[in-house]
Amino acid sequence: MSLLTAKSAQVAPIQLIIDTDPGADDVVALLLAMASPDELNILAITTVAGNVRLGKTSRNACLAREWGGREDIPVYAGASRPLLRAPVYAADIHGEEGVPGVAVYEPRLGLAAGGAVQYLIDMLGNAESRSITVAMLGPQTNLALALIQAPEIARGIKDVVVMGGTHFNGGNITPVAEFNVFADPEAAEVVLSSGVKLTYLPLDVTHKVLTSEARLQQLAAVGNAASARVVDILDAYVTADMARYGLPGGPVHDASMIAYLLKPELFSGRQIHMQVDSREGPTYGQTIADWHDALGQPANVMWINSADAQGFFDLLSTRLGRLA
Ligand code: RIB
Ligand code: CA
Repeated sequence: MSLLTAKSAQVAPIQLIIDTDPGADDVVALLLAMASPDELNILAITTVAGNVRLGKTSRNACLAREWGGREDIPVYAGASRPLLRAPVYAADIHGEEGVPGVAVYEPRLGLAAGGAVQYLIDMLGNAESRSITVAMLGPQTNLALALIQAPEIARGIKDVVVMGGTHFNGGNITPVAEFNVFADPEAAEVVLSSGVKLTYLPLDVTHKVLTSEARLQQLAAVGNAASARVVDILDAYVTADMARYGLPGGPVHDASMIAYLLKPELFSGRQIHMQVDSREGPTYGQTIADWHDALGQPANVMWINSADAQGFFDLLSTRLGRLA
């Protein structure tokens, strides 16, 4: 391949905003993303209440940024509660501080001035058409609020990639709902109905990308502080899911989604019609994924349901090796 062809073959980095509720797997996702500057130009990290309260998710995002050596990336704090429903948290899974297995402390650098919702409105509103990808690792409250206040910002969005939802797998917070959507179903409906190009990585796929002793040893063998932290975090984080589901390992939900941005060829799915159930009752927060097109409704989401699990851990190990 000639140099010119090789150069032209290089793809411009994804212009990326990461919205997150760190969160054990959020921290792993942020480290993976920060270790991949050739593919991901992280414009900002925006935080939301979810796994734990906003003060802790915001502190944890700043800590992850410090651990990733990327204090060039601004962190903006967003919504402290869902659009309508009473807040729910997952401290039973992620620990009271939101990051299990490692020491948590005040980061060197704090939050950027201004709130996440206004940042999203300003950045997406002034962006070139279809130029920015938004990765949603927690409840979708921030983006929903921005779209409600300024619907025209949808024009600046290239695509929204969501870790959330579930269909074939069943729920992880109720029998039928996944946590991120359950924590703010109305926000998920606002984003879904905005018409933005939408991809979901639900439990259907994240529960196929599981840790194992060998995979944790693979990560530990990277031999730096970042990989050691990830192993300690995952060791503490996956035990609850392994016990609950009787699995041989635990899912790394949010990092799986970042891997999708980095190497989509590791994943596969189908364009389908999906609805979010926001009616009170046992199906509140359920994502109804019409995988077999029973309703004959227009497809509105790319629903990812399979992945190369070892390929994910090979990618994660390699990229963590780039960090300190
Ligand atoms: O259901 C898993 C998702 O909920 C992950 O994003 C995890 O961090 C929690 O936010
Ligand atoms: Ca999360």
